[in-house]
Amino acid sequence: MIIMLNHKSNLTKDEFLKYQQELMKVDKKNNSLVVFPSSIYLSLYEKSDIELGSQNVSYFDSGSHTGEVSAKQLKSLGVNYVLVGHSERRSEQRETDVIINKKIEKLISENFKIVLCVGESIDEKNNNQTEQKILTELKEDLEGLEINYDNLIVAYEPIWAIGSGQVPTKHEIEEVAKTIKSYIPVKVLYGGSVDSHNVEDIYSPFIDGFLLGKASLKPSEVQKIIDVCEGK
Ligand code: PGA
Repeated sequence: MIIMLNHKSNLTKDEFLKYQQELMKVDKKNNSLVVFPSSIYLSLYEKSDIELGSQNVSYFDSGSHTGEVSAKQLKSLGVNYVLVGHSERRSEQRETDVIINKKIEKLISENFKIVLCVGESIDEKNNNQTEQKILTELKEDLEGLEINYDNLIVAYEPIWAIGSGQVPTKHEIEEVAKTIKSYIPVKVLYGGSVDSHNVEDIYSPFIDGFLLGKASLKPSEVQKIIDVCEGK
């Protein structure tokens, strides 16, 4: 399994440094771990067998783009993975599929592992539009790009499940994972309110890992989640 840890805009510098020491003690067993700290801490990350990811990237190469962080800058810090299309960026930063497409294009040119997030709203779910929404996002986000599928991971993150404590059923997750995998040959993660209590219920051989938000902030919780997956 691949377990990804998305810190979002959490942790102060001292908290991050303490977290990092605790995370290194986590026994990841046969799993891969990738941590996505706030970008201001990327350069503080101590190299280990836990890989480093960025929560965002600029679609510009470099130059006069105040506040942006370029793909080349991320590479120079040892970042290998980048999240794109997270629903918080789609809604709060108004990132459109066109913007996401441009970011993915830039990441391909710099040979990153790309984690593309897709997912339906509660209204789309209630109107049975989940599959349609996921396929539309995939089509538009990847339009016209030459993809090396070894470098693309899709994270299924229902918007209504993120930070809400609600999770889809295992069957619902499996259906979406099958839809994605029959469209493109990629690994599929599930994300949205995963914790050590519900992971047992949603664990499935159809998915390749989890993207953790809140649960990622406690290394002891990450360890528990790994232990549950390992026991399966
Ligand atoms: P959550 O966040 O686990 O806190 O719901 C997941 C995510 O947004 O990646």
